[in-house]
Amino acid sequence: MKIEEFKLERTLARFQNEVEYDLSASGIYPMFIREILSPEEMEEVYNDLHLKYVHTAGTEHLRKAVASFYEGMDPSSVFMTNGSAEALFLMAWGLIEPGDEVAFMIPNFMLLSHVVESNGAVVRNFHLDPKKGWSLDLESLKKAVTPKTKLICVCNPNNPTGTVLTREQMQDIVDVASEAGACLLSDEVYRGAEQTDEMTPSFWGMYDKVIVVSGLSKSFGLPGLRIGWVAGPREIAEMSWFYHDFLSTTVTTFSDYLATKALEPGMRGKIFDRNRGIVRQNLATFTEWVNSHAGVLSFTPPQAGCFAFVRYDLPVSSWELVMDMVKNDSVFVIPGSCFGIENHLRMNFGVDEKRLVEGLKRIDRTLSRYR
Ligand SMILES: Cc1ncc(COP(=O)(O)O)c(C=O)c1O
Repeated sequence: MKIEEFKLERTLARFQNEVEYDLSASGIYPMFIREILSPEEMEEVYNDLHLKYVHTAGTEHLRKAVASFYEGMDPSSVFMTNGSAEALFLMAWGLIEPGDEVAFMIPNFMLLSHVVESNGAVVRNFHLDPKKGWSLDLESLKKAVTPKTKLICVCNPNNPTGTVLTREQMQDIVDVASEAGACLLSDEVYRGAEQTDEMTPSFWGMYDKVIVVSGLSKSFGLPGLRIGWVAGPREIAEMSWFYHDFLSTTVTTFSDYLATKALEPGMRGKIFDRNRGIVRQNLATFTEWVNSHAGVLSFTPPQAGCFAFVRYDLPVSSWELVMDMVKNDSVFVIPGSCFGIENHLRMNFGVDEKRLVEGLKRIDRTLSRYR
């Protein structure tokens, strides 16, 4: 299987630690263990946590904790993975055969698209429409779905735009999927990191072929635990287990323990309160900065996450613009091309305000060279 470079991940790895001002991240400032465990619980871990393999299908307590995050989900529908990236890989590997078709939302986290394409599947993109505040272009979805479509993939809340589908749009997507008999995969890793107090609805329960992929890296602020999951019809959980035996076998014992604590309803509420505070803290400062570049920069304010997908009207590709920023101004954001869209930058505003303001000043310098 020949596969093209995963541009987003490799670009992050190359430049994130090279610059003075990093505004590239998609996650929320990560949590510390002390924010989840009390000193007594930590002592219990120290004395009693036994570093054996956990059950390869995922422990009953963790699957139950995940299921409690959704309405009407049975723990037997859940399969635990190392990060939601692994969950996406499992779906790409286990579900899709050469010649199958996949309808894929753009812009998006590109992992699944690259993997299925390298495996001989045909990917047909459908779009969120930038002219309509990144709302669903239903016609493009209908065009992307054919009798061969096995899977329709959405990301909601969306990375990189931070927009959230309306209930009506969700229903439209379900209608298209059920008419085609296709599975509907919804990547919901940003569910819980909203700008308002309203939790993004899950696709879970809307259709019998829904597959939810999610994890603790984004809205929970726990990327270092590498905890993700797939939830779907029984056969999807079984299939995930089958293929996972060839991958990492189990999640780690410590992550299993800590993730179960983090998902308890009381702790979950505390974590979301903390993280929504971070998500909201600098949006006003950021918006003011974008507005100060009227005519060059514009964006649709995100409904979730602490990043924005900013359009620029300048005669330079997003890759070249970012390379110029990195080299000459020591500031880093993600080129839109990493999400399949040109003339955009994904910018994180969820950092300390002083750093944000200084980072934006550096970007002013870069932009002034193209105006
Ligand atoms: C939409 C989306 N899905 C999945 C992932 C994978 O994250 P992880 O493997 O840390 O859960 C990312 C990471 O950026 C993402 O943005």
